[in-house]
This record gives sequence, structure tokens and C-alpha cells, in this order.
Amino acid sequence: MTELDRGSDVLVVARAGETQDAILSAVAAQELDAEVLTDPDRVAGSWRSAGTVLVADDLAEQLVGLALPHREGVFLVGTDVARLSAWSAPLAAQVIALPQGGAWLGSVLADGASRVRAPVVAVVGGSGGVGASTLAAALAQLAGERSGGAALVDVDPLGGGIDLLLGAEQVDGWRWPRLSSADGQLGDLRRHLPVVDGVSMVAMARGPALDLAREPLAAIVGALRAWHSLVVLDPGRSAVPAAREALRLAARQLLVVGPGVRGAAAARQTVVALGLDRAELVVRSSRGGLPADLVADVVGRPVLATLPEEARLVDAAERGEPPARGARRRYRRAVANLLGELVGAEVHP
Ligand SMILES: Nc1ncnc2c1ncn2[C@@H]1O[C@H](COP(=O)(O)OP(=O)(O)OP(=O)(O)O)[C@@H](O)[C@H]1O
Ligand SMILES: [Mg+2]
Repeated sequence: MTELDRGSDVLVVARAGETQDAILSAVAAQELDAEVLTDPDRVAGSWRSAGTVLVADDLAEQLVGLALPHREGVFLVGTDVARLSAWSAPLAAQVIALPQGGAWLGSVLADGASRVRAPVVAVVGGSGGVGASTLAAALAQLAGERSGGAALVDVDPLGGGIDLLLGAEQVDGWRWPRLSSADGQLGDLRRHLPVVDGVSMVAMARGPALDLAREPLAAIVGALRAWHSLVVLDPGRSAVPAAREALRLAARQLLVVGPGVRGAAAARQTVVALGLDRAELVVRSSRGGLPADLVADVVGRPVLATLPEEARLVDAAERGEPPARGARRRYRRAVANLLGELVGAEVHP
């Protein structure tokens, strides 16, 4: 398989000199990682995968000559006002004139960095069929309604397909087989992936079993983080390498606990078997079920949220109606609160 390029935060195209120094000190101040190229002829490989591209004014003409594909997030930086204005349009770049634009350079980089850092959440079932994929999809859907959009990645080859859950099996777009053999720059995947309700999906394809490797997953998640406000992973309950990688990549591991003593006991075993040392529990509440603190004691992990029973979800899943649309408000509200715990409440300007 060809190696996928995850892309650095910032691509700097600048010869050694004052402009390069100004750019690199701004990059260092934001604690970003930069790829520095002094020769524009070598830019093609990283052009689309970098989060932000900064081009020094004296290399702009040469770069335009390469006729690179259009991309967002390109800035032309330097002190030569004539060059800056001449090459900004052909590069579709915004201009940062130095030294007066130094502060803006910093905020442009901070902006790019905030895109790069979209949180990654994995949702795992504490037992089989407990609603982990449904919750993963509902979280992504509610996050997708916010600005920035969300991504949902199916990492469970035996799970039946996340696209079915969202009614997207007929929606065109790249699925796993295409992505696991993609070469080079991933960049912005949004226009290639099936999208429903603001959720970009990396779904399984129906057909021959796919041997999911961990490397493309890391690259795909890296790229998705740059272009969405939340990335949700559905690793299933197996310990295949890609699922383990999904758990490693996730800053937050949510474990959905089934009702009753058996639900909690199974969740405990799942924590041990999959090494879920960061798991936070989402407890399916049921009448006469265990109190949250007892569930936390049995499983040995803290409870983050409870999730109500929602019989309508079963029908919704059969019809391919996305869960946050098919469920009643009570379930939606619980998922919205959980999303708030994960990424903060939405700020209305
Ligand atoms: N809160 C809920 N209340 C009632 N039914 C639910 C709830 N959440 C999910 N379900 C239903 O439970 C079934 C299994 O859901 P889902 O596929 O999301 O579980 P899973 O944990 O991902 O299963 P698997 O172990 O196969 O991956 C579906 O029919 C779904 O609609
Ligand atoms: Mg599932």
C-alpha cells in the first residue's frame, strides 16, 4: 500500500532570509509543526495536505508557474508591496504585508491550528448491540449541525455499515476501499466523502472483507481533524489493529453501558479486554436500573452521561433515518448535552 501523507500544520515556501525568519518565529510561537521548502519545484507533494500554506513574495512567481490546483488557506507573505499585489490573485492567496501584518500572521496560524485540533471521540459498546453506533452517528449529526461540520468513521468491518444507519448507502462518495489505497496528499476530504446532515462519512463498502490497516486510519483521521469540528470513530468491539488504533487516536473514549448488572459486568470486561483506560461511561438508563455511582463502581470508570431508552430508534435504523432525526426530543437532548460535555456548548453570536 502506498503511504498516506498526513500533512504538516503549515507549509512554508520561503528561502532563508528575513521573511522566512518572521514566518518561522510566528509558527514557533503557535507551537505548530512546519515543513519548510526553499525550492517551489518540490511543493506539489505537500500543497494539498498542509493545513495552511505561507509563500514568501519572492517565490510567488515561480509557484504560479507550476499551475497548482486551487486550495484554501494560502497566504502570500513579504515586504515587497508590488510583488504581493501582483501575485495574490493568481495564487488565490490573501496578502500579509510585513512588518505591519505580523500580528495577523499570528492569528492566521492560530486559526489554522484550531482547525487542526478538532477533537476525536471513539464510541464503543460495553456489550453487543447496546447502541454504540447509533450514539456515534447521533453525536456526529448534532455536531454536523454546528458550523465546521463533523466526520464519522466506521472502523468496524462487522458492524453492518455506518452509511446504512444514516440512510446514505446510495450517496456517492469514497468509501474505505478507495481510501485505504489512496496515495499521497489527503488534504480536504470533504468533497470526496458521502455527506448527510453535515456529517462526512468514511463508510465500509459492501463486498469482499477489507483488511483495515492502522496507517491509513491515522492519516484519514489526521486529515478529517483539519476540516471538521468533531471526528467520531466507531471501532466496534473487536481488537483488530485498526480498531485499536482508533481507540489510541481518540482523546475521549465513550463506553456505552447496557442496563442492569449484566450490562455493567460486560462493560467491565470490555474495559479490560480492549485496554480502555480513558473510558468515560454513557449509561443506558432503564426503569429500576442501577444507580450511576454503582455502575461507575462496577465498571471502574466514571459516568459521563445517561442515555434514555428510545424505542423509535429501532424503526429509524431500519428505515435508514439518521438517529438524531428519528428519535424523540428526550434522546436528542441527552445526546446534545453529551456533545456539550465533549466540545463545549455552542456559542450563539
Ligand atoms: N437508546 C436506545 N434505546 C432503544 N434502542 C436503541 C437505543 N440505541 C440504539 N438502539 C437500537 O439498538 C440496536 C443496536 O444499535 P447499534 O447498532 O447502534 O448498537 P451497537 O452497540 O453499535 O451494536 P454492535 O455491537 O453490533 O456494534 C438498533 O436497533 C438501535 O436502533
Ligand atoms: Mg456498532
